[in-house]
Amino acid sequence: MRAAVGARAVAAAVGLEAERVPLVEVVGCDRHVASIGARRRPRSPQQVAPDAALVGHEGHSEVGAERPQLGRRLDPPLGRNQVVTLRERREVVGVVVGGDGRSVFGRRSHLCNARTRMTQVHDLPTPALVVDTAALEHNLAAMADALPGERCRPHVKAHKTTALAREQAARGHHAFTCATPREMAGMAEAGLGDDLLLANEIVDPDRLARLAALDARVTVAVDSEATIDAAAQAGLHEVVVDVYVGMPRCGCPPDRAGQLADLARARGLAVRGVMGYEGHVVGLHDRATRVDQTETAMRQLLDAHADVGGELVSGGGTGTFDINTWVTEIQAGSYALMDTAYGHLDLPFELALSIVATVISVSDGWAVADCGLKALGMDHGDPTVIGHTVWYCSDEHVTFGPDSPVAVGDRVRVLPAHVDPTVAYHDRMHLATGDEVVDVWGVDLRGW
Ligand SMILES: Cc1ncc(COP(=O)(O)O)c(C=O)c1O
Repeated sequence: MRAAVGARAVAAAVGLEAERVPLVEVVGCDRHVASIGARRRPRSPQQVAPDAALVGHEGHSEVGAERPQLGRRLDPPLGRNQVVTLRERREVVGVVVGGDGRSVFGRRSHLCNARTRMTQVHDLPTPALVVDTAALEHNLAAMADALPGERCRPHVKAHKTTALAREQAARGHHAFTCATPREMAGMAEAGLGDDLLLANEIVDPDRLARLAALDARVTVAVDSEATIDAAAQAGLHEVVVDVYVGMPRCGCPPDRAGQLADLARARGLAVRGVMGYEGHVVGLHDRATRVDQTETAMRQLLDAHADVGGELVSGGGTGTFDINTWVTEIQAGSYALMDTAYGHLDLPFELALSIVATVISVSDGWAVADCGLKALGMDHGDPTVIGHTVWYCSDEHVTFGPDSPVAVGDRVRVLPAHVDPTVAYHDRMHLATGDEVVDVWGVDLRGW
């Protein structure tokens, strides 16, 4: 997993006032840094070895032990919590935070290279969403191996984060599934709009018109005359027919799909195929039952597809990603971050998501941490507090029975039972390698 850091994110995480530091462009590996100046404590300008390089390139760079670290070259080294600006002649070219080779260089709102001991998981204000980079990397790689390229159309509703979608795209998945117009717009704005499927019905003319205006390939699900008319009137071009395959939610009866496809074509829409989500099957514990019921559901989808035509047969989720061989693409989302509900199944994905919380009260027999149901999706049940036994959650509290002694101020890790609604409660996720926060991603697709 690439370890890259956003400037404001790191600055916020370490409590620095990045806004007061003028960040300007760092041009590649700049060999002309002439001096540094103290920021909090006056410091006389120092010469930096002429071969000192600003590590990195536009936007992000790898952090690797073999790469030169400008901070190591500073003499005397910087102290903890010290911020200095780097200047080339009179121009500020970057910012260094801390010393001991742990440096941060600025480029507008991004930083090029970042290693700072000061940003650690146990320093984060809680409750804080934390993503384990090794587990995330494992999950993304496992899916890309199993379902390469267009065989997987990742569902972004599970993470609502364009930075994570970008990692999925980097592993070969360029078509995405979305649940809301906001997710569609955010993905398009992020330049990830090669092929976006809104796997949901929508009739609001304003929102449909905004979808039609996106700089992206936009396909929407339809399951009725009304949704077809709304899509056509808004100027959309492409639809899939959403088919009911066993879960009482959206989707037309399979034997009506052909008529709806004809109607859509008559309204000038291109029909790309069908979608049908076996949501009633994906979470079943017994694999044999999952296999049976997936086949039953997909037979209905294939019947519908025979009447509809088109290149797409879209369905599936994390729980059926290696079972559903009837579709042309799997709309899995949870696999990237995972949750404990899916963790109970026989899946090759690791729990990458947790919430770090602080113990705020200890009583005789129970303890309380600051991670309640306003920080957790609870529809799949209680969360897990690692090493302890959860009693229940209330708005801002998780009450648990300590299985080992805890004290006020201790940190605990909470594992959510359902990833999608959990992420939607948070505005950022902290990428952590071990205890070190190496990046902060905005959960920028929240909302509708
Ligand atoms: C339409 C649709 N497709 C696919 C999925 C798959 O998601 P997951 O990866 O969580 O199984 C969902 C989840 O709710 C969904 O609503």
